[in-house]
Amino acid sequence: MQPPITKIANSDFTKDLDITHAELVALLDLATDVKRSPEQYRSVLSGRSTVLLFEKPSLRTRMTFELAIQQLGGYAILNDGPIGVREPLKDVARNVSRWVDGIVVRTFAQKTVDDLARWSRVPVINALSDMWHPCQILADMQTLRERFGSLRGLKLVFVGDGNNVAHSLMLTAARLGMDFTLAYPPRYDASPAVVAEAREIAAQNDSKIVLTHNPEEAVVGAHAVYTDVWASMGEEAEAAERREAFADYQVDDDLMSRTLPEAIFMHCLPAKRGEEVTDSVVESMRSVVFDQAENRLHAQKALLMMLLGKS
Ligand code: CP
Ligand code: NVA
Repeated sequence: MQPPITKIANSDFTKDLDITHAELVALLDLATDVKRSPEQYRSVLSGRSTVLLFEKPSLRTRMTFELAIQQLGGYAILNDGPIGVREPLKDVARNVSRWVDGIVVRTFAQKTVDDLARWSRVPVINALSDMWHPCQILADMQTLRERFGSLRGLKLVFVGDGNNVAHSLMLTAARLGMDFTLAYPPRYDASPAVVAEAREIAAQNDSKIVLTHNPEEAVVGAHAVYTDVWASMGEEAEAAERREAFADYQVDDDLMSRTLPEAIFMHCLPAKRGEEVTDSVVESMRSVVFDQAENRLHAQKALLMMLLGKS
């Protein structure tokens, strides 16, 4: 039976916690169904439009948002380049939101996403900021559910930078009852405010958040090991310095051999083989990186239906 398309109460998806726990679970159920029977959803967003405002490069996010809305009967247009330079951001938001039904934004500062949401009449979706990558995490949770059936009690270990992906994963893992460990080099920690919030949520869900500098110890008992680039978009100038700091944090076959036998390897992509992960791990049987990428399409379809669809 097709799950109901419940409307998300919040008008925007600027960060992971903009949707409730119940909405997140409903979204994952809907994503599973739309993956199974895409033809059932061909006209759910008939005639609805989105604009993609992208200040940073993208392969997966851009293509899957464009395809998601098109396969639901709507359409997307792209406007890439800096936001708020040629004219104030609040004017961009007030123009664009009179023409389209939703704004998908990829940017640097989270403030850009928040300000667009403040000035826009239509929902704003965060397609990656320096602080969060909430759409990625929807696909990741769908992938974990496919592999393990349920999420509660799983141990997810993120090895690397305490960055946007780590922030979003930490909060979402905590609310879904997963244990989350971040193994990171000194000075490259996650935001203390995010860690504190994740710990509060974890305490209510019988799960725990662990921070460590020791990846070998961290991955013991892991169901999933996740990593991301050492230098994110916008941090290219620090790449050499980061390569040195992160040298002991590469996910390789030895690290994966310390996990549970059924453990999987995850990466949001693009991956820098030879840096945060070896080619051998990306290409191994444990790797689910292309399932994650595929699920971007299905999870974002569910998000678009629940945000832009009629209730
Ligand atoms: N994972 C991800 O967001 O990929 P893109 O940067 O290619 O969109
Ligand atoms: N942390 C990376 C994720 C890319 C999908 C970045 O922000 O560049």
